[in-house]
Amino acid sequence: TVDQKVAELLSKMTLEEKVGQMIQYSGFEYATGPQHSNSATVLDEIKKGKVGSMLNVAGAEETKAFQQLAMQSRMKIPLLFGQDVIHGYRTTFPVNLGQAASWDLNMIEKSERIAATEASAYGIHWTFAPMVDIARDPRWGRVMEGSGEDTYLGTKIGLARIKGFQGKGLGNIDAVMACAKHFAAYGAAVGGRDYNSVDMSLRQLNETYLPPFKAAAEAGVATFMNSFNDINGIPATANGYIQRNLLKGKWNYKGFVVSDWGSIGEMIPHGYAKDAGEAAEKAVLGGSDMDMESRVYMAELPKLVKDGKVDVKWVDDATGRILAKKFEIGLFDDPYRYSNEKRQKEQTNNQENRKFGRSFGSKSIVLLKNKGNILPLSKTVKTVALIGPFGKETVANHGFWSVAFKDDNQRIISQFDGIKNQLDKSSTLLYAKGCNVDDQDKTLFTEAIETAKKADVVIMTLGEGHAMSGEAKSRSNIGFSGVQEDLLKEIAKTGKPIVLMINAGRPLIFNWAADNIPTILYTWWLGTEAGNSIADVLFGTVNPGGKLPMTFPRTEGQIPVYYNHYNTGRPAKNNTDRNYVSAYIDLDNDPKFPFGFGLSYTDFKYSDMMVSSSDLKGNQTLNVSVTVSNTGKYDGEEVVQLYVRDLFGKVVRPVKELKGFEKIFVKKGESKMVDFKITTEDLKFFDDELNFDWEGGEFDIMIGTDSQNLQTKRINWVK
Ligand code: IFM
Repeated sequence: TVDQKVAELLSKMTLEEKVGQMIQYSGFEYATGPQHSNSATVLDEIKKGKVGSMLNVAGAEETKAFQQLAMQSRMKIPLLFGQDVIHGYRTTFPVNLGQAASWDLNMIEKSERIAATEASAYGIHWTFAPMVDIARDPRWGRVMEGSGEDTYLGTKIGLARIKGFQGKGLGNIDAVMACAKHFAAYGAAVGGRDYNSVDMSLRQLNETYLPPFKAAAEAGVATFMNSFNDINGIPATANGYIQRNLLKGKWNYKGFVVSDWGSIGEMIPHGYAKDAGEAAEKAVLGGSDMDMESRVYMAELPKLVKDGKVDVKWVDDATGRILAKKFEIGLFDDPYRYSNEKRQKEQTNNQENRKFGRSFGSKSIVLLKNKGNILPLSKTVKTVALIGPFGKETVANHGFWSVAFKDDNQRIISQFDGIKNQLDKSSTLLYAKGCNVDDQDKTLFTEAIETAKKADVVIMTLGEGHAMSGEAKSRSNIGFSGVQEDLLKEIAKTGKPIVLMINAGRPLIFNWAADNIPTILYTWWLGTEAGNSIADVLFGTVNPGGKLPMTFPRTEGQIPVYYNHYNTGRPAKNNTDRNYVSAYIDLDNDPKFPFGFGLSYTDFKYSDMMVSSSDLKGNQTLNVSVTVSNTGKYDGEEVVQLYVRDLFGKVVRPVKELKGFEKIFVKKGESKMVDFKITTEDLKFFDDELNFDWEGGEFDIMIGTDSQNLQTKRINWVK
């Protein structure tokens, strides 16, 4: 068995060699954190068996060269190659939050399958994904990498991603080890400032932030990465409660935990460790198995063991977990098995993958407004003007954090090219940049206004720069950057019909546009095929069916705003209620766009909501159904959403919680019945003593098209 092989190998290793397995260095490209100046010595360390893993070393040839160094070491233990494969590899897909807007678990899984097939062909064994952090604050740049604010949706998506990455299981040549990150609660950093602190009740932590991680552990995710933040005063990197009590204790997790880049050393500035020695000691005891680029384990751990401060059993445990994965993915049978030039070639510019990417891109787009049904556009509109700084962009379409596309820039489809390719030959596509993404220069306005005047319809393409969301990209002002909104106002004065496309990695605030522009598509960053995906939606080849995975606020001051809040003792009665209720005196109470919201070119009508019983007892199952009719002019997809409210509890319960959804396709003029099942598992919650159970009582069962437009049935369920 793997356990026996690990034990046998451990028995032959020196302490330094064991600690060596716990070390991960970055290669010399694509740094994703502060770099050390002595990187060249890394090659030497590998030969001495003092390195277990490299990140940011990629390509069949390069990984082979590094592996050859490891094969010169005494124990000949192969290296693990890790990389951030976040939203695709050579073929990039929408940024993850955009993918989440598709609510399409099959497509999400397939995208990770493709990413894993491509990455593994480039020698990558391990991705630092999925990020399953729940995030309720769009100022935090990393919302881009996650699935949004909801625990249920985030858990389902996380599982789909893990399945996609790990494919038929570790050991298969196209399986890439996944990594549930960032453990834990990184998405709740104060003020949305990256790397910041988290202070919250253990009840909230367990109920809202930990479920995607627990589900990932149960599903066999190969690894975990911990997070930069402290949780209730203890850095996650050394947090015994989450890593020892829960993950490796109650959840019985057998994989290994890698630190985040430098996070072990960062416990010194956190004020939790006085020096590197204490940082190493606290991290290893707290459950960090591998040191990513802090460079303290090798310097400190052997000494700590020899001085009796760290029992060698903790080193054995960490090393054993890492070695087990190397056995499981077959590296001891063939250390070079992932480094294969032929496979690499097949997975470069792979047309099938691009085809999928095009379709996935279009499914991620959310239609926010379509007043007067300007969309879909006819392909024979005489003159179309594309205006805005994103129109001819290529690289930016990838969105932040796509490390492997870099040689492929010429392959990216710009919005201009995508639209041009579909517009009738007799039509004209004009273009004006209008302004830059992020400066105050308005000199291009005049040309843009003149261009708009010549058009029958104007497509404005605005948003935030692609490097304005992602790690270390928190923003305090999440409007359109630079002078883009001024440009939009000027173009609107021409009176031309406008379709606005918003390019972003997070929810933006764009009240003026939302109130004044008739047609708005939220297009995120869509990846390699962005231009084609966008044109498919503009011209109606694809009817948009995306739904927002995060609440869109009215102002930054309204953050955090999320749909599954508590009712409070003084809830507002309506949107404008200010009568000594929990509200702002200067703002409507609802968000600008609610969680789960998204329109279609067609219309869906919900009717005949039914529950199998309104009085249930014990472990019965409740069946809920609804009929969804397509009453509009186009075939289309709809995400039917089911929410539950537990009216009274031992602890207060949210006003609603997503407990099910189904994405359906309905032809125009047809209807479909959608069924859901609710069991008592769905009713469980954590009480103030962290017991996880359900209580009998009254529940509201709600079904609808988004978190605000819902039909309700009340039921009674006794224990
Ligand atoms: O995987 C990432 C992590 O999400 C943030 N810090 C750097 C790591 C490796 O690139």
